[in-house]
Amino acid sequence: MTTSQTTPWAVVTVRMKSVRSTREAWAETLDRLDEVGALLAADADVGGVELRDPRTIDGPERPELIVYTTPEALDGVATTVRTTVAAFGIDHVEVSADVRTDDDWRDTWKQFYRPMQLGDGALLLRPSWIPRQDGDPEREIVLDPGRAFGTGLHETTQLCIDRICALSRAATTDGAPGRILDLGCGSGILALCAARLFESAHRVVAIDEDPEATDTTLENAELNGLTARVEVRTGDVQDAAAAGPYDFVLANIRAHTLVPRAAAIHACTAAGGRVVLSGVLAEELDEVEAAYLAAGFVRDPSVEWPRTRNIWVALDLVRPR
Ligand SMILES: C[S@@+](CC[C@H](N)C(=O)[O-])C[C@H]1O[C@@H](n2cnc3c(N)ncnc32)[C@H](O)[C@@H]1O
Repeated sequence: MTTSQTTPWAVVTVRMKSVRSTREAWAETLDRLDEVGALLAADADVGGVELRDPRTIDGPERPELIVYTTPEALDGVATTVRTTVAAFGIDHVEVSADVRTDDDWRDTWKQFYRPMQLGDGALLLRPSWIPRQDGDPEREIVLDPGRAFGTGLHETTQLCIDRICALSRAATTDGAPGRILDLGCGSGILALCAARLFESAHRVVAIDEDPEATDTTLENAELNGLTARVEVRTGDVQDAAAAGPYDFVLANIRAHTLVPRAAAIHACTAAGGRVVLSGVLAEELDEVEAAYLAAGFVRDPSVEWPRTRNIWVALDLVRPR
């Protein structure tokens, strides 16, 4: 695996104080912690964030936000977390900061992770340590996200998977994509789901600037026997351009990264190609849309605008022919 048993790592945990709070109070806290997490994810010293929602996963007794960092950056990140939590007016949480030398975090979060059926049962997303059950969908993706983002539990990932599943259902009449780009692949979840559901796709490129993510994607491609069709690269959008143009581009990355890349994403999208931008908060929608319309995209007329899940929106775009 990409993680080491000995390399120290660090974590800041924000946990709701009262176990006895109502589900309504949980929902409100989770929404605000999700926004805090989205802001923190953009911090250069933050390696990843994970929101644990006791309503959807077994394990935590109350909402938790886990912020991963390094021991060197721990004090600064803990201060940023406390300041951000206070700025959002969240006062009923406790914040703790720890350096770890074990791999407990993996075993802990593994308890929360269950197989999921995607696209009305079109595809099973199965953690690598949980065996198949009778009646599971035939097509599956086996995943071990390691420390990379992309378990399938986050709304921004789900917004992309929803679109992959919908397009794959329509693909026989609508034309299936031959080349697919997953920009910011994390665990590789989107590239692998797309490769599995679009059997026509002869080239799926999964790219991430973080080598830990691309190592994880490669391992997951191997787990699924998809290395021949999924090409994994470390880099940014320009490093994927030569293998394009792409008929379908998935980019689950924060708005501040998407906006300056509008022209580059347009340049590597085929005429008539589709793009899904996720990782965008509702209040960032106008800014992201303006950048992508200015770059030459139009809204995909076949999809509701914008698609939303909780505080997150997805922009479905087309590069006109
Ligand atoms: C929110 S995660 C998405 C992971 C996965 N695609 C999913 O949908 O669950 C965003 C990923 O984008 C990567 N990333 C951020 N900025 C990037 C950039 N400019 N170029 C390439 N990858 C980038 C991060 O390292 C991270 O793995």
